[in-house]
Amino acid sequence: MTNICQPNNWNATLYQDKHAFVWQYGEDLLQLLNPQPGELILDLGCGTGQLTEKIAQTGAEVSGIDSAPAMIEKARQNYPHLNFDVADVTYFQVKQPLDAVFSNAVLHWVKSAEKAIASIHQALKPGGRFVAEFGGRGNVQMIAQALSSAVEAIAIPNAQTRNPWYFPRIAEYTTLLEHQGFDVIYAVLLARPTPLADGEAGLANWIRMFASAFLVGLSVEQQTQIIRNVEDHLKPRLYQEGTWTADYRRIRIIATKV
Ligand code: BEZ
Repeated sequence: MTNICQPNNWNATLYQDKHAFVWQYGEDLLQLLNPQPGELILDLGCGTGQLTEKIAQTGAEVSGIDSAPAMIEKARQNYPHLNFDVADVTYFQVKQPLDAVFSNAVLHWVKSAEKAIASIHQALKPGGRFVAEFGGRGNVQMIAQALSSAVEAIAIPNAQTRNPWYFPRIAEYTTLLEHQGFDVIYAVLLARPTPLADGEAGLANWIRMFASAFLVGLSVEQQTQIIRNVEDHLKPRLYQEGTWTADYRRIRIIATKV
């Protein structure tokens, strides 16, 4: 996948074992999707396939795509009865028009939002729905700022340019959708503080899994120093009783193709 900032070399096993909250929180989003038996649904950015399987359990005909080959390999191992493919979120095509496109915790990796929206639009039937959740304006702001400052503190300039994420304002994203032929029927931005697994190591593990773009090209010693600096800076605000909590803010959207 070329236009997505997410690294393609995800460690799918680590993702599945230590970051299960990604799809556990996504189960709420399934209620907004409200899949019906026989509906054709695409899980866009399906990761290791847990939510794809939940959608399949409703009787919908679901398939999953993801840009990361390691994720698709794991999804196929997990759910061999389902259909998974490696594909580009900003340029994918479907064989038959869909009733719904579902996407959890993926679109904040896609800076080319217009291209992703165009692909989603062409994939849907008229009246088909797009149901998504992703990071919105202010998502993981404390962590991102602490990372930038810690990178710059070791004399690496312009650390913000390493930021891999797109966290739009709600008005920005709904406007993009409307311009490309969607009616936005539900949109909300909500704070969802998210406890991280692994106790004291939780923030370091999260950074290594999801924020590695800030650390690219740096020595192991520099990476360790940056992570320590971030932990020291954020401990008073994000660490309590043995658990780190990430400052997540999510956009949830339902839009229908006009
Ligand atoms: C999120 O789910 O909001 C998220 C995950 C990883 C990095 C940044 C944001």
